[in-house]
Amino acid sequence: MTANKPMIIAHRGAKGMAPENTLGAFKLGLEQGCEGIELDVHLSADGELVVIHDHTLDRTTDRQGAIAEKTLAEIKEADAGSWYSEAYKGEKVPTLGEVFDLVPDSIMINVEIKAPGNGMEQKLADFLNERGRIDNVVTSSFDHKCLRRLKLIEPKAKIGLLYANNLLDPTAYARSFDVEVYSLHPHYKAIDAEDVVKAVENGLQVYPYTANEIQDLKELTDKGVSGIITNYPGRLKDLLQDGAA
Ligand code: G3P
Ligand code: MG
Repeated sequence: MTANKPMIIAHRGAKGMAPENTLGAFKLGLEQGCEGIELDVHLSADGELVVIHDHTLDRTTDRQGAIAEKTLAEIKEADAGSWYSEAYKGEKVPTLGEVFDLVPDSIMINVEIKAPGNGMEQKLADFLNERGRIDNVVTSSFDHKCLRRLKLIEPKAKIGLLYANNLLDPTAYARSFDVEVYSLHPHYKAIDAEDVVKAVENGLQVYPYTANEIQDLKELTDKGVSGIITNYPGRLKDLLQDGAA
């Protein structure tokens, strides 16, 4: 039992119950009471920010080919829902703008850059500025040099370090940057309570990914994490409401 109430962050939307990274999945996450959403972003051949996890259309749509080689119009021809279920037939690969239109300002958006370089950082900085929505957006990536580039282009952008393996001292690593790091996004098994306490004491948010089982959600809550990225936002909400965590 803990008083900690981590932010509920819906991974690729409510990925456990809807086709990932679609407007339908984000809507479901919001309905289930998430306080943040995580999504993955790529650049199309004509320079549009599109929301999809893989580098190709193959796994999550009925079309094939590399995102970077397709125009937005071509990407929009793909059905991103029917592979998951008939109920989601007709879902499209959304643009980042369409997701921002859908998600209220009060909800944190975690944009994960999957394709660093090729103008991505400038494009995203311009997008955030055009939208006037920087404060409640955290940009993360496994490519930390990319995040540093973004921060140098737009100092108001919040950046979050994704990592999959145990670091010796994640807070010290984050503080070794010559730009401000906002958050740590470790694999949920790659952070212990000591790491969390030190990070939080040093002003870092800690958002582990992607925990789904009740036991894991409870353990992370007990460790004092700031948020949990989960495929089942409704499950985490129930757990926190019940006070069972
Ligand atoms: O941002 C957390 C998580 O989404 C990172 O891994 O592969 O699910 O994008 P992945
Ligand atoms: Mg992701």
